[in-house]
Amino acid sequence: MDKRLYDFDKMIDRKGTDCLKYDALSMFFGQEDLQPFWVADTDFETPDFILHPIKERLNHPALGYTYRSEEFFQSIIDWQKKRHNWNINKQWISGTPGVVSAISSAILAFTEKTDKVIVQSPVYFPFFQTITGLDRVVANNPLRRDGDRYEMDVDHFEQLAKEGAKMFLLCNPHNPGGMVWDKKTLRRIGEICVQYNIIIVSDEIHSDLILGDQPHLPIANISKEISDITITLMAPSKTFNIAGLATSFVICSNAKVRTSFNKMVNALHIHGGNLLGNIACEAAYKDGEEWLEQLLDYLKENRDTAISYLNKELPKLSVFKPDATYLLWLDFSAYGTEKEIERRLKTDAKVALNLGSTFGEGGKGFFRFNYGCPKSTMMEGLKKMVAAFKD
Ligand SMILES: Cc1ncc(COP(=O)(O)O)c(C=O)c1O
Repeated sequence: MDKRLYDFDKMIDRKGTDCLKYDALSMFFGQEDLQPFWVADTDFETPDFILHPIKERLNHPALGYTYRSEEFFQSIIDWQKKRHNWNINKQWISGTPGVVSAISSAILAFTEKTDKVIVQSPVYFPFFQTITGLDRVVANNPLRRDGDRYEMDVDHFEQLAKEGAKMFLLCNPHNPGGMVWDKKTLRRIGEICVQYNIIIVSDEIHSDLILGDQPHLPIANISKEISDITITLMAPSKTFNIAGLATSFVICSNAKVRTSFNKMVNALHIHGGNLLGNIACEAAYKDGEEWLEQLLDYLKENRDTAISYLNKELPKLSVFKPDATYLLWLDFSAYGTEKEIERRLKTDAKVALNLGSTFGEGGKGFFRFNYGCPKSTMMEGLKKMVAAFKD
């Protein structure tokens, strides 16, 4: 395929499309005059091989209830095999509108009020909201910083397991920081969960956005024992910029665990599926490999360009190099308090980034920058940040 077929430099105007990232700035940041680098979707066009079948479907005048076809399931099965060397079968797959609604469903299905759920902060903030919002208790295993990445504290994890935690919300690859967790760590943590009867809910939504040499490893693909206690959550939404279609899926090999999970999803009545989301998911996984390879090349370039620019221009800033995702985790703590940094970002640089403290313990002083956009957009934002923080 001709490499130039996909143009990630192309600018698209997302303003005025009820787009969260651009149109909800005043709601979330109190001002509209910001260049947005916050919400984790991209500014790239959803590719034609997805838009085309959606448009075709819209030629039909009825948009009633839908169901997931054989082809839908097969596209997921084939994608897991091709991209993650994971053999799954149709019975293992269930649908949910989102990864976060699947997390809530799992918490409701497998824990009681006041039960402890392990998370590893700093982590994607809805992990906390789902646990506390459902009156469960967060058992935090803070990640340990090692230079420009985090490591898991396996000993403390085991301590929390011994103290009776019932569930573990794993984020793999991790948001924020972009770590692809290595096999040894995943195996060890998985074995602890097996030993202490802890259900693993593994959020692998970023698993197709691998930028480094280490491939993504679904924790459920490590051993039968670990697979038996794991519910894996995935979606094409981040990768193909179709998050607005609210379509994700769940993979669980253990029939008993799966039945309990599906019972809750059915009781909440969130199993139905989105007509256009199903079409998009199937098209993405059937036809998306070449496009994805080109996207990954583009994101690697953006990542490397951003890191070397920031390292050169703002030596007091500390930048994590993500193995995956289009999210840069920036440690601004050398520049003052979180409030002061936030003020400079909003008032001087006029950019909207995610506030680190919302990711929990360890996040304060950090801000998250989304580089899933044309390089020129990224550089415009970075230059404004450099001007605002340069000594
Ligand atoms: C780790 C992680 N999980 C889940 C989500 C959102 O998932 P969904 O929109 O499918 O609920 C995000 C979005 O940023 C994320 O980064």
